[in-house]
Amino acid sequence: MSMPQTVKLVEVGPRDGLQNEKETIPAEVKIELVDRLSAAGFPNIEAASFVSPKWVPQMATSAEVMDRIARRSGAIYSVLVPNMKGFEAAVAARADEVVIFGAASEAFSQKNINCSIAESIARFDEVARAAKAQGIRLRGSISCSLGCPYQGAVTPAAVADVVRRLRDLGCDEIDIADTIGVGTAGQVAQLFEHLSSLFPIDRLAGHFHDTYGQALANILAALQAGVGIFHSSVAGLGGCPYAKGATGNVATEDVVYLLRGLGIHTGVDLEAVVDAGQFISAHLGRKAASRAGNAIAARRAAQLSA
Ligand code: HMG
Ligand code: MG
Repeated sequence: MSMPQTVKLVEVGPRDGLQNEKETIPAEVKIELVDRLSAAGFPNIEAASFVSPKWVPQMATSAEVMDRIARRSGAIYSVLVPNMKGFEAAVAARADEVVIFGAASEAFSQKNINCSIAESIARFDEVARAAKAQGIRLRGSISCSLGCPYQGAVTPAAVADVVRRLRDLGCDEIDIADTIGVGTAGQVAQLFEHLSSLFPIDRLAGHFHDTYGQALANILAALQAGVGIFHSSVAGLGGCPYAKGATGNVATEDVVYLLRGLGIHTGVDLEAVVDAGQFISAHLGRKAASRAGNAIAARRAAQLSA
């Protein structure tokens, strides 16, 4: 399988990246982040999530964020929805795409959405029907596709089972998520090979957290398997020192740098992403968790002082 010439990058920093932050981030900051990412050219931004604010307090301002962002024509603004309550909020917020999120591990499903995998599919069924009826794009996400913090190993067969169910609900895209960043390139290649007989490979997405530093290698392995959609988080946002196994998504700057080097088109302006990464990192009071982003920022500073 040859590598795709174009990749769709889904920027998930405003949702996956910020959801774990302990300090409340003002809506203005989230809005500026999304606006900067829109201006940087992302075709798809995961901007918010309509989940229980008791479970994820940081996402409580999602309606305000969705209301006040400057939407770039043609770009897709996605939100997570666990149930019909979330779906209704997503519709009111004019989301272009709703994301139903399940897991390939029973233990994680219980911890994250408080129900079994089978119960989650029943909830999603209602959301999927409503999304189809209203012409809203539907994406499915599968956590723990390469390993689970509670149960350990997860088999490709378990992932395939959830892919089949999400496919049958009518998902336009399905995300294969390495929630705790434990997967390695050979495992990723094998998994996508296994799944490609169930769902079109060009509608499967790689969602890699970078906990073990494997995400870029995993992206390359997935590209070689024909995957053309990847999720990443500006400045490598995400992660929480208190949540076992949860660190950030692969940094967007690093992914854009990799893809640019491979001659793969993304439509994303690397310099603008670096600026967005520096902006949010300055707000959070820490250095960006992006090697390429920090290298580019350092090069700029050196040029300025020369
Ligand atoms: P539950 O407690 O079983 O739900 O939680 P419930 O239906 O019994 O409702 C309990 C309360 O939540 C009620 O309020 C509901 O109204 C409210 P109360 O009467 O107590 O005041 N509620 C809601 N409020 C706002 N929006 C909603 C909503 N639904 C119920 N949509 C539930 C079940 C799914 C709601 C809960 O477990 C939840 O919100 N979980 C979300 C967890 C989450 O957001 N995790 C992070 C995102 S997933 C992720 O990061 C993984 C991903 O990146 C891929 C990867 O890397 O693996 C996507
Ligand atoms: Mg994630």
